Amino acid sequence: MQAIADRFYDLMEADPAYAELRAIHAADLAPMRAALPSFLAGWAGGPRDWFEANPGKCMVSMHAPFPIDHRTAGQWADAMRRAIAQAPVADRDVAEAMADVLARMAHGMGRGTERG
Ligand code: HEM
Repeated sequence: MQAIADRFYDLMEADPAYAELRAIHAADLAPMRAALPSFLAGWAGGPRDWFEANPGKCMVSMHAPFPIDHRTAGQWADAMRRAIAQAPVADRDVAEAMADVLARMAHGMGRGTERG
């Protein structure tokens, strides 16, 4: 998960296609590079460190204050799909299923319509 998260934030920082997504994040992405893999590990059924450190915290509702719309949700989902595609994962079908579910979650965080 660390490889996926690092690739995800590398893409977010380097690719102008994700400029709006980058702009709504803090200048220092180091805390995110630590938090995202920890969240994803627990979310995918592995070690639950993030969930134990954040009891009762809901990933979707904690995103409510951020200006997430169809564009930025799409940027998040696209960067995550690319990061997962480039990760050394044994099972490609599982990796793609994970990218699909995360994309739906990202669009679910968007404002306005149900699909963000
Ligand atoms: C399934 C989709 C997503 C997941 C799993 C996810 C995951 C995370 C995690 C783990 C954190 C850190 C929370 C913490 O540990 O306190 C976070 C924060 C944040 N996320 Fe997301 N996120 C998702 C979608 C999005 C989208 C679509 C956007 C914007 C378009 C976004 C913008 C942010 C911002 C702005 C922060 C705060 C970061 C900061 O203060 O630098 N996230 N997210």
